[in-house]
Amino acid sequence: MTKSRPFPKDRANEPSAEELLEWDRVHQIHPWAAMDDWRGYDNMLIDAAQGIYMWDGNGKRYIDGPGGMWCTQIGYGRKDMADAVTDQMMKLAYTSPFTNTSEPSALLARKLAELAPGDLNNVLFTTGGSTAVDTALRTMQYFNNRRGLRDKKMILAREKGYHGSTYLAHSVTGKERDKSHFDFETRLVHFLPDVNPYRRPKGMSVEEWCDAKVADLEAAISLHGADKIGAFIAEPILASGGVVVPAPGYHKRTWEICRANDILYISDEVVTGFGRLGHWFASEKVFGIQPDMITCAKGLTSGYLPLGACIISDRVMEQMSDLGKPSSYTNGYTYSAHPVCCAAALKNIEIIEDEKILEHVRAITPYFQARLHALERFDIVGDARGMGLLGCIECKADNLEAERELGSKIDDACEELGLLVRPLINMAVFSPPLIITEAQIDEMFDILERALQKVQDELNA
Ligand SMILES: Cc1ncc(COP(=O)(O)O)c(C=O)c1O
Repeated sequence: MTKSRPFPKDRANEPSAEELLEWDRVHQIHPWAAMDDWRGYDNMLIDAAQGIYMWDGNGKRYIDGPGGMWCTQIGYGRKDMADAVTDQMMKLAYTSPFTNTSEPSALLARKLAELAPGDLNNVLFTTGGSTAVDTALRTMQYFNNRRGLRDKKMILAREKGYHGSTYLAHSVTGKERDKSHFDFETRLVHFLPDVNPYRRPKGMSVEEWCDAKVADLEAAISLHGADKIGAFIAEPILASGGVVVPAPGYHKRTWEICRANDILYISDEVVTGFGRLGHWFASEKVFGIQPDMITCAKGLTSGYLPLGACIISDRVMEQMSDLGKPSSYTNGYTYSAHPVCCAAALKNIEIIEDEKILEHVRAITPYFQARLHALERFDIVGDARGMGLLGCIECKADNLEAERELGSKIDDACEELGLLVRPLINMAVFSPPLIITEAQIDEMFDILERALQKVQDELNA
C-alpha cells in the first residue's frame, strides 16, 4: 500500500516539480531562510504522503524521520481526519471566539482539562506553539500585575531551549544561532546554562551534573531575587536544541524550587505532548511535576491543521480572577478555538485513544532506543540520546569545521537512501510518526547506518 505514491499526477495538466520550485524560490519566504543565499536555496518539494512515508515532486519515496516537524503523530492520509474536518467546515467553518463558542471547542477544552495533569483545567486556544508560549508568558505578566506584583516579571529560560518565533517566544529561546539579526527582549530574560549531560566536565557524574544545574537555578534566584522573577519556562526535553534529556531528578527539583519561591512553572510540551513519550503529557507521567501552565500544539492535531493551547491551572486562574477589581484578559486571536481545527484535534485524540497509540509508543520505545544507542558504534557518533520516539545523534570530527558539516552530510546521505532526518549543525534528530512499526524502525535505522558508514568513510578518506 505504501510503495506507490498516492494521488498520482496528471502531468499534462499540472505544473511540473521544476516550475513549482522556481516559483517557490522567487516568491516564497521560508522560516529560517538563508538570507545570504536568497533565491539560491533549495527546499524539497513534498507532494504526497501516506502513513510514515512521503513522496517528492519526482515520485521518490522517503520515510518521514522528523515526523513533519515533531508533529505527525497518527501519520498521513487519514480519511477519518479529512471527513471530520470537512463535516465541521460544512456545519460551521468559523465563529468569533471573542463573543461565541462552538461545539468542537467546548468539547476539546473539556477533553484537554481531562487529559492534563492536576488542576490544569483552563484552556486558551492559540494558532500554534509560539502563540501558546506567548500566551503563557503574558499570562504570568497579567497574573502578577493583578496581584500587585508589578516587578515580578523576569523569565528564567535555558540555553539551547526553543520556544518559537513571536517576539516573546523568540526572546526566551536560548539558541544563539537563532538570534543573529533579529531583536529580542533582553531585560526580561535570564538564561540558565546548558543542561546537556553530554557536556558535563570529564570525571563528573550525572548526579553531580544535576546538582550543578539545580544550583544554576538557585544562583539565578539569589542574583535577581524571587520577588523579581515571574516564571521559569522549560521543555521537558529540549527538542530543537538537540533532544537534550536533562539528568534524572532535574525537573522535579527545579519545579519544587519554583513552587517554594512563588515562580510560575511553564512546561513547554509543544513537542513532548500528545504521545511522543508515550503519554498525553510528559510533565507529570514521566517527570513527576505538575506545572502551573502547559503549552502544547503540533501533535494536538497531528499536523493536519494549525492549533495550539495554553492550559492554565485553577490556582492561577483563581488568583487572576478573584481580586475584586474588574479587568479584561486582553489576549487571544481571531483564530483562537477555530471550530475546524478543534474538530481535527478531537478526531486526532479519538484516533490515538481508539488505536491505542500511546500504548504502542510505550511498547515500541525500548526497540527504537536500542537501535538508536547502537549507532554509538560509529566513530563519528559522539552521543546517541533520546526518550520515547525522540532521538538524536551528535557527531564529532577532528576539526570543528568538518564537525559542523556532519549534520547536513548525514542528511544528504539519508535523503539519497530514502530517509528524511532533521540536521542541526553536527546533529541529526528524529521523531517519526508514532504509528511506526518495528519493521519500519528497522528500515529507518538500516538506512541511517548505511548513511553514517558513507559519511564516516568519506571523512576518513
Ligand atoms: C518546544 C517548542 N515550543 C514552541 C515551538 C513553536 O511552535 P510553532 O512553530 O507552532 O509556533 C516549537 C516549535 O518547534 C517547539 O519545539
